[in-house]
Amino acid sequence: MNNVTFLSPVQEQLQAIESRLHAQADDRHPDLRAAFEQILAAGGKRIRPTLGLLVGNMLGAPEEKLITLGAAVELLHTATLVHDDLIDGALLRRGMPTLNARWSPAATVLTGDFLFARAAKLAAETDYLPLMKLFSETLAVIVNGELTQMFSARGVISRENYSQRIYAKTASLFEMTSRSAAMVSPVDESVIESMRVFGYEVGIAFQIIDDILDFTGEQTAIGKPVGSDLLNGLVTLPAIFYAESHPTDEDIKSLADGGWANQERMARLVNSIRSTDSVKKAMAEATQHVERALRALERFEPSPELESLENLAKFIVDRKV
Ligand code: IPE
Ligand code: IPE
Ligand code: MG
Ligand code: MG
Repeated sequence: MNNVTFLSPVQEQLQAIESRLHAQADDRHPDLRAAFEQILAAGGKRIRPTLGLLVGNMLGAPEEKLITLGAAVELLHTATLVHDDLIDGALLRRGMPTLNARWSPAATVLTGDFLFARAAKLAAETDYLPLMKLFSETLAVIVNGELTQMFSARGVISRENYSQRIYAKTASLFEMTSRSAAMVSPVDESVIESMRVFGYEVGIAFQIIDDILDFTGEQTAIGKPVGSDLLNGLVTLPAIFYAESHPTDEDIKSLADGGWANQERMARLVNSIRSTDSVKKAMAEATQHVERALRALERFEPSPELESLENLAKFIVDRKV
């Protein structure tokens, strides 16, 4: 991420967010503090705080509020990852062993809870009630989405189901971030709405690309296991396109009755999907969402901040990590 152009204008503010994050585990149990430090040190792209900073800087938000918001959002994201990896049984994240790879489920759940608590405290420190409401509403959407996914049958091939899922688990937080950054800025409702749309579209594209990387990515680059969605019974966009163009494929048909539990079958299916144009079609769909995001920016006067936001949106589909 270091050579990414949209990062340079917010480098110092991102450092301030990093310090703010590190300050959240002071005076706590040494094991909790160590786990917390390890999670932060492993990095992550910090794409959500970057989004908030770029939006807020463009619209003239007070810097202090943007830094608090950025830290709150990143911590909320991190908390959901800690719980997500436990739920998925994932052993690698950001190139490091996950907490659940080393600790009991109980300790992992509690560490996630601690992160949620700290995220909520940071949100409160923005001293702006509408933002706190939006923050907790978004967490409810994410958790409800994860539960819906868990309770619905696995192996479901449905566009409708896919769209709802990626909104809940990912786009909702991007949407909230850019919307909140606009809410703390001296702008009117219609600007807030444009920024909401921008965050929404970028978030949808981001998750589609995450799902593509699960098929095409390198584990060493993305720092987490690849090919794991199908094995978990999660049918994402590349598989949906493949099912549409290969309705009689035995491996794809097997998904409906538990075929995802068969490792050999799924490895073969991953290869089939990779060798067709299903990934390209999914990529084209992500690109459409980025274009919609860019359209939401058309109303703004040219500025370096605007250019950075455009570059962030474009980075979403070009990324390899
Ligand atoms: C991973 O998010 C979870 C998804 C919503 C796809 P990121 O890809 O932003 O993860 P980090 O923070 O950079 O590790
Ligand atoms: C995780 O989505 C989203 C949340 C944390 C709510 P994924 O399951 O696709 O994320 P990765 O692929 O594990 O990072
Ligand atoms: Mg996961
Ligand atoms: Mg994923």
